[in-house]
Amino acid sequence: MQTVTTLHTLRQTVDDLRRTGPVALVPTMGALHEGHLTLVREAAHHSASVVVSIFVNPRQFGAGEDLDAYPRQLAVDSAKLKEEGVTLLWAPDAATMYPPGYATNVSVSGVSEGLCGADRPGHFDGVATVVSKLFNQVRPDMAFFGEKDWQQLAVIRRMTRDLDLTFPRVDAVHGVATVREADGLAMSSRNAYLSPPQRAAAATLPRAMTEAIARIRDGQEVRPTLAMLEDQLLGAGFERVDYAELRDGDSLASLTGPSDKARLFVAARIGGTRLIDNMAVGG
Ligand code: PAJ
Repeated sequence: MQTVTTLHTLRQTVDDLRRTGPVALVPTMGALHEGHLTLVREAAHHSASVVVSIFVNPRQFGAGEDLDAYPRQLAVDSAKLKEEGVTLLWAPDAATMYPPGYATNVSVSGVSEGLCGADRPGHFDGVATVVSKLFNQVRPDMAFFGEKDWQQLAVIRRMTRDLDLTFPRVDAVHGVATVREADGLAMSSRNAYLSPPQRAAAATLPRAMTEAIARIRDGQEVRPTLAMLEDQLLGAGFERVDYAELRDGDSLASLTGPSDKARLFVAARIGGTRLIDNMAVGG
């Protein structure tokens, strides 16, 4: 595996790789876990070369968020990627991504509004900006993102269509199913912030979501069911529920009842750590 930190070398190396077959990109912020590695394996399955980027993107963190605390462990991550047979690790520093005088922002409306977009102003602008830069830098044939961040995936798909990004092609933005711990908690780099009791209580999130989905599918009304879900989380030790909403998985429009594409989206905080999850509800 080659580790590259300058744009010039990246371009040269990926140009060479492209001659040998399709190139896949897996963008990450590091602190890699099985969720990330599943994206890497999926990417390898579809391509000849896998490029993984690791960049903790300051533009997608709000004031008072965990930019400084975010785990950085390049050597450990690099060993994991090597083991997976990754071709190239793109690890730019902040000055390479955002040189002095940097002044451009990519902003996607619609799907970025509400849910995490409401709680984290500017977050999806930061994501869209850095991902459009990564697409332009690497110019992959395809890219892989996790369904764990469903709204992020929707923002990236919208941006790819709207800006006519040829690399990757519109149909080449792949979503990969959420990878979970044995107790159902979605894997996340932020789970590392949880103390053992908080970690144990965090498993209430997927459990309560699964129960709420069963009730909704059973014909119970959405609003009281979601209120019950919130009470369950608060009762288990979460200090705040940012949102618990039923939305269409494609358009992200709010829904009042089940439908084919309905998904349940929840964000809640435990011990100051914000956890998010989403699951299909179905009709
Ligand atoms: P990060 O949180 O490091 O996640 C990188 C990719 O891994 C994202 O596509 C995310 O959805 C996916 N992922 C994380 N946990 C997962 C899980 N449990 N199961 C499946 N996939 C999972 O998301 C970002 O970084 C950034 O916003 C980024 C897209 C890199 C832009 O900076």
